[in-house]
Amino acid sequence: MRHGDAAAGDVRGERGGTQSSADPARFAPGRAKHERHPYLFVPFGGGAHMCIGYRFAELQIKAIMYQLVRRYRWSIPSGYIMPEQQAPIAKPRDGLPMRLEPVD
Ligand code: HEM
Repeated sequence: MRHGDAAAGDVRGERGGTQSSADPARFAPGRAKHERHPYLFVPFGGGAHMCIGYRFAELQIKAIMYQLVRRYRWSIPSGYIMPEQQAPIAKPRDGLPMRLEPVD
């Protein structure tokens, strides 16, 4: 690498299940947690400098999502395919055109 070059890890590849038999694409509560590699899912980093706000952030996200899911009906335009950006952070490239309508 040269001075000033940017580096980014492909966390999607890591999450893809190549190092684990956990099959992350399948919902299965309580499955083989002991088989999970500690660096398989790293949105908050890992190792000595892992995010210290991890649990707090998770709690906030759950509290906010609970209200949003309970109070609104969510939809995306029909046929919409999300353009993905992977680095430096994974997110939709178009801001995600989502519609939230209050549930009566
Ligand atoms: C969705 C919310 C958040 C995400 C995705 C996130 C993500 C991250 C990531 C990826 C790192 C780098 C870890 C590494 O180098 O391995 C980090 C570090 C850190 N985060 Fe967060 N974070 C979040 C919320 C928070 C909150 C709420 C706080 C404080 C209340 C916080 C405080 C910190 C601190 C102090 C570090 C540096 C830790 C160190 O270098 O030892 N973060 N975070």
